[in-house]
Amino acid sequence: MTAQATIPSHVCIIMDGNGRWAKKRLMPRGFGHRKGVEATRRSVEFFASVGVRHLTLFAFSSENWSRPNEEVSSLMELFMLSLQKYTGELHDKGIRIRFVGDKLLFSEALQQQIRDTENKTRENSRMSLNIAANYGGRWDIVNAARLLAQQVADEELSPEQIDDQTFRRALSLGDGPDPDLFIRTGGEQRISNFLLWQLAYAEFYFCDRLWPDFSNDDMQVALDEYSRRQRRYGKTSEQVEISG
Ligand code: IPE
Ligand code: IPE
Ligand code: MG
Repeated sequence: MTAQATIPSHVCIIMDGNGRWAKKRLMPRGFGHRKGVEATRRSVEFFASVGVRHLTLFAFSSENWSRPNEEVSSLMELFMLSLQKYTGELHDKGIRIRFVGDKLLFSEALQQQIRDTENKTRENSRMSLNIAANYGGRWDIVNAARLLAQQVADEELSPEQIDDQTFRRALSLGDGPDPDLFIRTGGEQRISNFLLWQLAYAEFYFCDRLWPDFSNDDMQVALDEYSRRQRRYGKTSEQVEISG
C-alpha cells in the first residue's frame, strides 16, 4: 500500500466527449467544444497548482480532419480565439505553451498565432503545456525516423548510434520526461493514435465523465488512483518495494 500521494511529473489527456455532451443537451457539437475549452482551462490551472510540471493535451488528431467541414472550421476558429484569449493569462501564471503536431496544415494566421504564443511563453518554467494539434502518434514516429535517416544520409549519425535515447529525442516531447499518467475522459478505452512511443510505461486512467464535465474532483480522483499504482517497469513487486 502506498499511502503518500505521488504527483506525476507528466500528465497527458485525451479530452474526449464534447460532441456527446452537446448532443445530450440537443445543442450543436460546437457548443460542446466551447464548453470543452472551459474544462481545458480548469484542468491547466488544477494540474499546475498541484505541481505537475508537464501537461500534454490532445486537442485535434490527424484523423479529426475527416469530420464534417463545418466542425473542422469551427474547431480551427476556436483554437485561434482561445489562444488570443488565454495566452496572456497563462503567461502570467508562468506556463510555457508549445504545440506538438504537424502545424503546416493550419492556416497561415493560425500558424502565426501559434508562433506568437510559443515565443511569448518560451521562458516560463512553472509548467509546460503541450497542445497536441494535428498530432498523430504514427506521424510522430515516422517523422522521427525521417529525421534520423536524414542525419545518417548527411553523415552526422551512424545507424549504430540509433538507440532508444536517440530515437526518443527525435520524437515530439523528446526533451522532457515520458507521460506518467494518461487520462481519457468520455468513456472510450483506446489511444486513438495519441503518443504511441511515449506511453510505453504510462499509467492509464479511463473515466466516463464527458470532457466539459470533468471537474477538479474528477482530476483529484485520477491523481489518487495514480498514487495507488505500483510502477514496476518489468521488475517484481518485492524488488520495487525494497528499492522504494
Ligand atoms: C473531443 O470531443 C474533441 C475533439 C476531438 C476535437 P469529441 O468531439 O470527440 O466528442 P465526442 O467523442 O463526439 O463526444
Ligand atoms: C481523440 O478523440 C482525439 C482528441 C480528443 C483530440 P476522438 O473522438 O477523435 O477519437 P475516436 O475517433 O473516438 O477514436
Ligand atoms: Mg470523441
